[in-house]
Amino acid sequence: MSHPALSPDHTAVVTGGASGIGLAAARRFAALGMNVCIADVDEARLRSAAAQVAAEARRGEAAVMTATVDVSSRDSVAALEQAARQRFGAIDVLMNNAGIQPGSRMLAETNWQRILGVNLWGIIHGSQVFAANMIAQGKPALIINTGSKQGITTPPGDPAYNVSKAGVKAFTEALQHELRNTPGCRVTAHLFIPGFVFTPLTANGRVEKPAAAWTPEQTVDFMLERVAAGDFYVLCPDNDVPRALDERRILWAASDIVENRPPLSRWHADYADAFAEFVKKLP
Ligand code: NAI
Repeated sequence: MSHPALSPDHTAVVTGGASGIGLAAARRFAALGMNVCIADVDEARLRSAAAQVAAEARRGEAAVMTATVDVSSRDSVAALEQAARQRFGAIDVLMNNAGIQPGSRMLAETNWQRILGVNLWGIIHGSQVFAANMIAQGKPALIINTGSKQGITTPPGDPAYNVSKAGVKAFTEALQHELRNTPGCRVTAHLFIPGFVFTPLTANGRVEKPAAAWTPEQTVDFMLERVAAGDFYVLCPDNDVPRALDERRILWAASDIVENRPPLSRWHADYADAFAEFVKKLP
């Protein structure tokens, strides 16, 4: 099963496409016979990624372009849109995937602006800058925004990252609502929610994939399958967390409000037993 946007000679733009999940996606798009624009802020990574993506492409280097882009800057994203369109014409797939996780603390300003700038403003800029022309093309097209489970269950430890990814979720849900209510629009938005994926972002000095993690390629293959099936929420498992466990965690988090519990009760000592019992009731 595939999606009509994912067809030979169509074009994909992938931000954060020079590493990890974005690079795996760029390689898959190239292998499908698509033109690929790899957009990233890291020029050294871009050079190596271009060769890897071209190696997968039927037309080799002719099907690949790179763009040095900082997604936190709207001007930079606007220049990307123009450059990709000038080189390849219509854009069929936009994957807003660039992200950083340098760490943050609740009561210190450090990294907050940068994390929100890249992770949240990056996907807002990408979606807003690309969507009008993608809609006007009049053919099926995809906007895939990379979120995180941390934007849904918001675990303690990295509040700025959680806030950015919660924003990605809210923005992408509203984007899809807007697109489906726009007459004649054949563009759909999707919230891509990876599990634990072994990439430079999560490596922390490790060179071997931890058993719990999926590879970027596994994750992208799952994403392509679920997008083709029409899913909006592409909730990826990993080797430690099956979908059923994610479902319990998500339900528990949402139930904090319904049950009038304290926030993040999953990590509150008074609720430890109740949460453990709840999780045991896996279907
Ligand atoms: P990665 O670090 O391997 O790749 C991210 C890429 O984004 C890098 O090439 C980096 O240079 C680029 N980038 C950073 N700032 C940028 C900017 N301002 N403009 C353009 N490009 C920029 O990371 P990974 O793991 O592949 O992450 C991709 C996305 O997946 C991120 O949004 C991340 O938050 C998300 N994610 C990753 C998970 C994991 O376990 N690896 C889990 C859940 C979400």
